[in-house]
Amino acid sequence: MIFVPLDLPPIPNKSELVKRFVGTTYITGHCGRIEVEKENMTITDRFSHWTETNLYWRDRHWTDIAKKDFPEIIDWVQTNLPFEKYFLIRLGRLYKADPHIDNNLFWISQQADDLYNKLNNGEVCPFPNTDMFKYTDFENSIYEHQLANEPVGYRFILSGSRDTLYMSKDQRVKLSDDKKHYCMIPEDTDSYVIDNCTQPHGVDPKPGIDDDRIVGFIVGLVKPKEHKELVQRSVEKYKKYVMTKEMVT
Ligand SMILES: [Fe+2]
Repeated sequence: MIFVPLDLPPIPNKSELVKRFVGTTYITGHCGRIEVEKENMTITDRFSHWTETNLYWRDRHWTDIAKKDFPEIIDWVQTNLPFEKYFLIRLGRLYKADPHIDNNLFWISQQADDLYNKLNNGEVCPFPNTDMFKYTDFENSIYEHQLANEPVGYRFILSGSRDTLYMSKDQRVKLSDDKKHYCMIPEDTDSYVIDNCTQPHGVDPKPGIDDDRIVGFIVGLVKPKEHKELVQRSVEKYKKYVMTKEMVT
């Protein structure tokens, strides 16, 4: 199975959370779009101000931004999700995404440093502390753990469309519409899981509806039994939304 909506309560207070996910001034480079609103930012602060804002970072802590602006999400995550340990919880403002596999994006592979340099493409990254990209044993164990527990890519929607995520057989290619298998996230839940180690997927945003599309990503180690129970319960409840690899041709 590569997709199922989760039988979990909706995220509380979504419209307010979306309003808090704002920036004022941005610089754009190969590192992404970075908010530079505050003066005297520390490296950690600055890292937290990508257009993707980290709420939890590398098995260490909830970020100050999470505690100050998104306590509802901390509470929702801690109450509902079957995780033993987190690596990354991130809110991202998403636009069009061509087919890709997520684990690449989270830099949890052994090639993290290479990828980092490639992304920077010769530009000076505003985050010179490359220690941030050195991986602990825990972090290097995540990929194997995910493979063993797929679908384990936990995601949640704060705003935007619920029918523009699609699965595809191939990645990194331009796809014709008949190669895109769209997933539906019903209105009574905000969360879902995808297979994030092996399954190519993309997003075709809808103008107007997705101008402020904000999605949460969670990466870490699940408690396998609880995770499995939640997925099974969700499959029961959301049978008609389930997508399997066999359906993606
Ligand atoms: Fe993705």
